[in-house]
Amino acid sequence: MSEWNDLAFLSLVREYGADLVFLGLVSAEGLIRDNLKTKSLIRLTERTRPIFAQIFGANPYSMAKAAKIVEEEGFDGLDINAGCPASKVLRVGSGAALMEDLKNARAVVKSVRKAVKIPVTIKMRLGPTGTEHLKLAAIAEDEGVDAVILHPRTVRQGYSGRADWGKIVELKSMLSILVFASGDIKSGASFMEVLRLTGCDGVLIGRGALGNPWVFRECHDALTGKDPSRVDLQEREGAILRYLDYLEEFYREKGLKFARRHLSLFVKGLPRSSEFRAKLQEAAWSQLKDLVRNYFENLRRVK
Ligand SMILES: Cc1cc2nc3c(=O)[nH]c(=O)nc-3n(C[C@H](O)[C@H](O)[C@H](O)COP(=O)(O)O)c2cc1C
Repeated sequence: MSEWNDLAFLSLVREYGADLVFLGLVSAEGLIRDNLKTKSLIRLTERTRPIFAQIFGANPYSMAKAAKIVEEEGFDGLDINAGCPASKVLRVGSGAALMEDLKNARAVVKSVRKAVKIPVTIKMRLGPTGTEHLKLAAIAEDEGVDAVILHPRTVRQGYSGRADWGKIVELKSMLSILVFASGDIKSGASFMEVLRLTGCDGVLIGRGALGNPWVFRECHDALTGKDPSRVDLQEREGAILRYLDYLEEFYREKGLKFARRHLSLFVKGLPRSSEFRAKLQEAAWSQLKDLVRNYFENLRRVK
């Protein structure tokens, strides 16, 4: 989730129990051209470990070179994107389009696997006719990939309908390597449900973590049979202020664009959040902490 997975937010979700985090997808071609902007997207910090980077591309040679860069940067693992539905990614035969040319997909997977020693995973959507993802997953296993992550929706589906967890059951029964589930997991209850239904080896949470980094703690609680811990105003405020500290550490005032995105969601559903959001869009970087403190102080006063 490239524009959402800043290092500060990933640090926060690690603190709340995410066992592994992924950076958003990065273009292999951009990386190997030593494009400074692209390179800055694959920074990491000790606080976020274990952390995987994700690359997309359709050229086996470029993908292998980019994979080496990711390894040299110190990432704990690398994910090959075979699921992105964005037209600019599909147009060059990468992302979910990898499934439409399985011969090339095999060449990509093989060269990436050979290029690095770190764990390699592949993330995919459902193939257009419902079988291509199975074929690609079999290729990945054959070529020594460590895990397959499936978001069981087709490109055409976008984010509509429900993720078809039944497809994860099918994949799990076919592979010996790890299978991770993605799609519509947003609470301790849906986490337990997908584990129970699919027997998958792990779960990825995307949208459900936005504005709710506590979802990972909720999953751990559910796994150990504990009632979900409540997130009170004090904890919410503390998490936001910590998030701003981490943004300061990693991005300085360039963190403002991330803060505007995430803070809007952190206060979703709270009283007078639309007023807070409007102020947030106007505020300078140096004003953010006061804005947050004042907002929560007022909330506590009216309670
Ligand atoms: C804004 C946004 C950005 C995303 N970026 C990526 C990405 O960079 N790489 C990727 O593999 N999936 C990406 N995804 C897909 C998610 O990883 C996930 O598979 C999908 O959202 C379904 O899971 P969820 O219901 O937990 O969100 C993105 C999804 C959203 C909504």
